[in-house]
Amino acid sequence: MLSTLDAMHARRSIREFEATPVPADTLRPLIEAAGRAPSSKNTQPWSLFLIQGEPLEALRRDYLAAFDAGEAPRPAYRYSPDPLPPEWQARAKSVGIGILQHKGIAREDAVGRRAHDRANFTFFDAPHVFFLGTHASAYGYGTFLDCGFVLERLMLGLAAQGLGSCPQYSAVSYPDILCRHLPGSEDTLFIAGLPFGIPKPGSRVNSFQPARLPPEAWFRSVG
Ligand SMILES: Cc1cc2nc3c(=O)[nH]c(=O)nc-3n(C[C@H](O)[C@H](O)[C@H](O)COP(=O)(O)O)c2cc1C
Repeated sequence: MLSTLDAMHARRSIREFEATPVPADTLRPLIEAAGRAPSSKNTQPWSLFLIQGEPLEALRRDYLAAFDAGEAPRPAYRYSPDPLPPEWQARAKSVGIGILQHKGIAREDAVGRRAHDRANFTFFDAPHVFFLGTHASAYGYGTFLDCGFVLERLMLGLAAQGLGSCPQYSAVSYPDILCRHLPGSEDTLFIAGLPFGIPKPGSRVNSFQPARLPPEAWFRSVG
């Protein structure tokens, strides 16, 4: 088990998984630890769904059908400003290029790029997916920050045990489909998906580590 700091450094987005499921007894302690996340006034405003096995296969089929039919994503919230500030846009472009390069897909290869986009809608074929949500009335509030802590705890807890995950906004592209497949989610605003599992050994795309700015670029100490 990695230390907290080591897990923070080790975590990166994993986009190729082994089909073998994660042992079930690793999940309960992870979920309990994620639920220790702080929240404003201890409201604990998150909800978390785990889907796997045949129910996940059924969800994948419906997601792929919507994607293949060209249905526009209809997430319940907008992720970021549009357009992005130019320096954010440059980093977003660079990470997109890096992922494609690590998958061996040329920029002019439209078919390959489409296949990569499509992989988002099978949740990268992971054997398990968490879906993180909050109450539908929480749109636009700091509540999202509390929920983000849960997502980060799940990712770090998985990384500490040598497991991998990829946070996904694209996984909440079709909330109505999610609602049909996740009983009890009627009042849920879906925030992100988190496919997870055992990272595929030797995967080139899994080795991709997008560069980070040095702290000097975003950190200021006063006093
Ligand atoms: C909320 C959120 C949504 C994301 N959505 C996607 C996604 O839909 N598809 C994808 O491949 N990566 C997605 N990512 C992963 C980011 O591309 C990734 O975190 C970023 O490039 C930094 O790389 P790293 O996670 O490997 O450190 C998402 C990350 C976050 C935090």
